[in-house]
Amino acid sequence: ATTLGAAAAQSGRYFGTAIAASRLNDSTYSTIAAREFNMITAENEMKPDATEPNQNQFNFSAGDQIYNWATQRGLKVRGHTLAWHAQQPGWMQNMGGSTLRNAMINHINGVMAHYKGKLAAWDVVNEAFNEDGSRRNSNLQGTGNDWIEVAFRTARAADPSVKLCYNDYNIENWSYGKTQGVYRMIQDFKSRGVPIDCVGLQTHFTGGSSLPSNFQTTLSSFAALGVDVALTEVDVTNSSTSQYQGLTQACLNVPRCIGITVWGVRDSDSWRSNESPLLFDGGGNKKAAYTSVLNAL
Ligand code: XIL
Repeated sequence: ATTLGAAAAQSGRYFGTAIAASRLNDSTYSTIAAREFNMITAENEMKPDATEPNQNQFNFSAGDQIYNWATQRGLKVRGHTLAWHAQQPGWMQNMGGSTLRNAMINHINGVMAHYKGKLAAWDVVNEAFNEDGSRRNSNLQGTGNDWIEVAFRTARAADPSVKLCYNDYNIENWSYGKTQGVYRMIQDFKSRGVPIDCVGLQTHFTGGSSLPSNFQTTLSSFAALGVDVALTEVDVTNSSTSQYQGLTQACLNVPRCIGITVWGVRDSDSWRSNESPLLFDGGGNKKAAYTSVLNAL
């Protein structure tokens, strides 16, 4: 295979990227994106501040721009994200208690109704844990510890056909507190029948040339709970070829690791652009890390 998407498809997986609607009329960008990838995540356009800028007034124009661009080219779309402490619309930020709980439920219902039956997965809840494995303090957490399970139950009822994921960063190292905290939550959800289908590991790697310890063990351990796993926002400081090769191999070694998404197309498109963390340079040329990933797929 000569593209990342086609190479991943050889083992039934996908290879995706994050897309910014504002860049779609850059032809270098959109040409690479459509050629190389077969799964698309909106980098910002499906987040709560974008989709519900005023309470109960939903706006899907930018999200739909990405959705339509992708599906017209035969690419699938992951939804990102419904409930998160960050990128909340202003009206939501100072809410609490049952007012916020109801607003969260209404937000999930409103956004999921619009995309019902259209997406491969939703990151229902994003980044709800602290580094030590306890719950992150946020206005959502302040509504009660059950806010995550309420979000997932609401999501399942809103669209029974879409895969529901929990997504977080720094949950790649198996011996890390945060990884264990998320693991225990998934285990608890599975034992009590709370609907959850997948765990997204953001995989924002920094520094060094080796993977976080026991990365593959983390993937297989989550999978053993009965969920799919995916690498959802991959970028690596200076595009370490050994880390890119290793994370790709780890996913391929775990049957329930269903796909890999890099968090942008070219280094210049990245939220970490000063770290040159992606697979294409600013000119749209394939980097060494691209080749290491393609060869590993
Ligand atoms: C980032 C985007 O890339 C930026 O454009 C934006 O300014 C902030 O959010 N974890 C996530 C993503 O789940 O949504 C974040 O995306 C990066 C960290």
